[in-house]
Amino acid sequence: MRFLRNGLQPTSIALLILSFRSALLHPLAKPLAFALCLLPLTWLLWGAANGQLGANPAEALIRGLGDWTLRFLCLTLAVTPLRIRARVPQLARFRRMLGVFTFGYACLHLLAYGWLDMGLDAGDIGRDILKRPFILVGFASWLLLLPLAATSFNRAVRALGAAQWKALHRLVYVIAPLALLHFFWMRAGKNDFADVALYGATLGALLLERLLRYFAPKSSDRA
Ligand code: HEM
Repeated sequence: MRFLRNGLQPTSIALLILSFRSALLHPLAKPLAFALCLLPLTWLLWGAANGQLGANPAEALIRGLGDWTLRFLCLTLAVTPLRIRARVPQLARFRRMLGVFTFGYACLHLLAYGWLDMGLDAGDIGRDILKRPFILVGFASWLLLLPLAATSFNRAVRALGAAQWKALHRLVYVIAPLALLHFFWMRAGKNDFADVALYGATLGALLLERLLRYFAPKSSDRA
């Protein structure tokens, strides 16, 4: 309440940041973050079950899952810059979870497309992927997410070694542009670029920040 009465003074901001940092270390922070990550899926499934997804629920579900894959990709990429630039190292606890959710939403997006659009016919899915370039590009970005998801566990990190793990995870510099191209290509058919520009600017800024940090002379943190 003091914050509201006095406005945001520098000391109030410092207090807010301190409380935020300790909240991130709370034992319930991870379960809460996990539940929050499941909310979009719950909301989409609830909408589908209750006829709340409009005239074409299959399309709305596929698109909704695609949108959330892109949002989780942005959130995952935002963790390290926020951790370093805003000095909130506690955020690192959530990076792996966000990355795994990116992959999870991508798999559900692929499953929804394969099931609701293509009736789970592997031949039809294969032909459609090869016929429509925007789907081919989306599929390529999903394929590239596979090794990242497979090596997101402690044992895999130990087996690979930190240097190789980091090198492998630079695949994100290919995955993000491919995911964006997939989205752009899809929206180009409708001449609707507003959201694409927003995600493009976000992903561009996040990748640029990583590159700048990587090439910064005294940078010791190149995650
Ligand atoms: C990292 C992986 C992927 C991301 C980030 C992604 C993201 C997206 C996004 C944002 C949309 C547009 C949603 C909208 O208009 O609001 C979309 C549409 C679509 N995606 Fe993906 N996608 C990915 C992978 C895939 C894969 C693997 C496939 C299938 C092989 C696929 C098939 C589709 C289809 C068919 C649509 C259009 C749905 C429609 O027209 O109704 N995507 N995707």
